[in-house]
Amino acid sequence: MSTIIFHASEYGAGKQYATWVKENVPNATLLDSRLDAVVDFSAFDNIVMIGSFYWDGLHGAKFMKKHWQEIKDKHVIMATVGIANPESSDYTRIKKFAFPDEMIEKMEFYHLRGALDYSKISWSHRQFLKLMPIFYKKKQKRLLKEGKGLDKDAQEFLENYGGKISYVARENVEPIIQSVLEV
Ligand SMILES: Cc1cc2nc3c(=O)[nH]c(=O)nc-3n(C[C@H](O)[C@H](O)[C@H](O)COP(=O)(O)O)c2cc1C
Repeated sequence: MSTIIFHASEYGAGKQYATWVKENVPNATLLDSRLDAVVDFSAFDNIVMIGSFYWDGLHGAKFMKKHWQEIKDKHVIMATVGIANPESSDYTRIKKFAFPDEMIEKMEFYHLRGALDYSKISWSHRQFLKLMPIFYKKKQKRLLKEGKGLDKDAQEFLENYGGKISYVARENVEPIIQSVLEV
């Protein structure tokens, strides 16, 4: 059993998750997919990609599509990293936007929760994130109007906006490690 793990991480959350997987899988190789290194995929049974969400765009998706013909008959894992709570998120639309149906059917998906540290975020990314409080405040107003309770994740996002928050935890990658080791 041989494994290659890729990450497509900007600020380190995805890289941390990929490193934890590597540390727990014997003889695994870890690579940043953005280096676009030449890889002999025939040498690997497990292909793992850990890619982060940036405004509906999924880092790493382009790389997986580029190499799909080389990896499609292998055990392929696509793990996403985002600040949204995977327990209350529906990834159907985002998956369809990122991948053709064949890839969605064949790949094994996992959704990991990431981190945001506003002091480290680039100027252009910060401009995007300014839209988030507007969206969440609107959502909270609507929920209140409908007599429903506030959305916990939206509230947490608003409370931490401009600061630092991390949901990155070693145990989140345990199902990925188990799945890789079973092959
Ligand atoms: C500009 C920008 C857009 C983002 N868009 C999303 C998003 O659409 N959905 C989501 O869940 N998280 C989103 N995030 C949060 C990132 O996915 C999260 O910070 C993740 O941990 C980043 O991973 P990385 O540290 O590996 O780059 C966004 C973050 C930034 C800076």
